Amino acid sequence: MNNFSFLEDKPEYRSFSKDCIDAEKVFRSSYDSCVKLVRTAIDAASKWIYAAENKIASDNLFELIENANLDKNLSDKLHYCRKAGNAAIHNEKEFSAQEAEQCLKNLFDLVLYIDKNYGKNFEPRTFKSLICAENILQTELCGMKLNTPIFAASGTFGFGEEFESFVDLSRLGGVMVKCITLKPRRGNDGIRITETPSGMLNCIGLENPGVEVFLTKILPRIKDKMNVVVNISGSSVDDYGNLAKLLDVDGVAAIELNISCPNVKDGGIIFGTDEKAAAEVTQAAKKNTSKPVIVKLSPNVTDVTKIARAVENAGADCLSLINTLMGMEINIHTWRPTLGNITGGLSGGAIKPVAVRMVWQVANAVKIPIIGMGGIRSASDAAEFFLAGASAVAIGTANFAEPSITMKIADDLETYLRSCGLKNIRELVGKVKA
Ligand SMILES: Cc1cc2nc3c(=O)[nH]c(=O)nc-3n(C[C@H](O)[C@H](O)[C@H](O)COP(=O)(O)O)c2cc1C
Repeated sequence: MNNFSFLEDKPEYRSFSKDCIDAEKVFRSSYDSCVKLVRTAIDAASKWIYAAENKIASDNLFELIENANLDKNLSDKLHYCRKAGNAAIHNEKEFSAQEAEQCLKNLFDLVLYIDKNYGKNFEPRTFKSLICAENILQTELCGMKLNTPIFAASGTFGFGEEFESFVDLSRLGGVMVKCITLKPRRGNDGIRITETPSGMLNCIGLENPGVEVFLTKILPRIKDKMNVVVNISGSSVDDYGNLAKLLDVDGVAAIELNISCPNVKDGGIIFGTDEKAAAEVTQAAKKNTSKPVIVKLSPNVTDVTKIARAVENAGADCLSLINTLMGMEINIHTWRPTLGNITGGLSGGAIKPVAVRMVWQVANAVKIPIIGMGGIRSASDAAEFFLAGASAVAIGTANFAEPSITMKIADDLETYLRSCGLKNIRELVGKVKA
């Protein structure tokens, strides 16, 4: 989005350049505000013409446009923006991307007219479509339409609704909700979270209200707001099959099998560290659901590609990685472990290089798509995962420090893709030159 940025280098246009640049910037977040700002910019730019011609300008935008001696085509375009701006100011209608972009294009024509007729170094330019830029992050994963390839990682984003005032949930690729089990779980006792250099250790222990409460109370509230990916865990192969069956309902976009939780004794990781068990769990889920099955891999293994291949062969539609790395902290004053569970899962910035390495290894070993995660805190972190071979990414621990971080990452990723001359995020996937 940089049609108007050339104005920054032309101080003679400062009376209207900021309004133009702001109008274009706000296009991303609000079409109505964009249309209002275009009206302000047209007013200021028209007055600039009057000043250049030593004429007295009217305060009325209609008269300003009428008496500015513009050709009919351009003055019609400006009247379009004037009317649209008035409607936006009086909240008479909601503007679409096409209408807001039309207003920006018309403003652009006025700016070019000024530059051509009054500027010193006129350079012909064409308007770059913003609507195309807006779709640059749109993609598809296992039949799910994603507005952006950015998910919120399980256990770090509640059921999504807790973040509604910080994040436009529909702009996320989806939310991997907190792990659901057959029966409610109260989680581990004692201290469950501790901060570490560039990350955190947790041992929540899969606290959740159980599948019944999820289906009857929570899902109806959240299902129309986002792609709901349900993260599930069990203590037996049958548990995974039963959960998959119960969750094969409207409003669930996909199921993510948590076979990698290092913080509970009776499930999760015992399946994620053994190829045969991982394959059995995958088959059990696949047999019982029509939804895409995502298998979440553990980094706590020697060769992650073996497990990845085993679950691909068992029918997994997608892989997500990595879950947390098993860690431990000891209090040197009490000589006891900090966490109630003794060990916990390490997440956050510290684990990013491990995660990127594993995504790259797995991308080279399987054909199914990958959702990459582990320590992503910025668009450049996310870009590394796409380059390594991830088709989408998930943000976890960073949500605790900055609840709106997913939106910032989406915005900055768009800018990055455009700076690389790419038209869609898919063009970045697996492009690492290694
Ligand atoms: C407090 C906390 C709770 C988590 N709970 C779950 C969970 O219920 N299920 C799961 O599959 N992963 C869980 N995770 C792992 C994250 O989804 C993610 O895989 C991991 O933290 C790495 O990403 P990050 O470094 O961006 O946080 C949890 C992580 C944290 C920090």
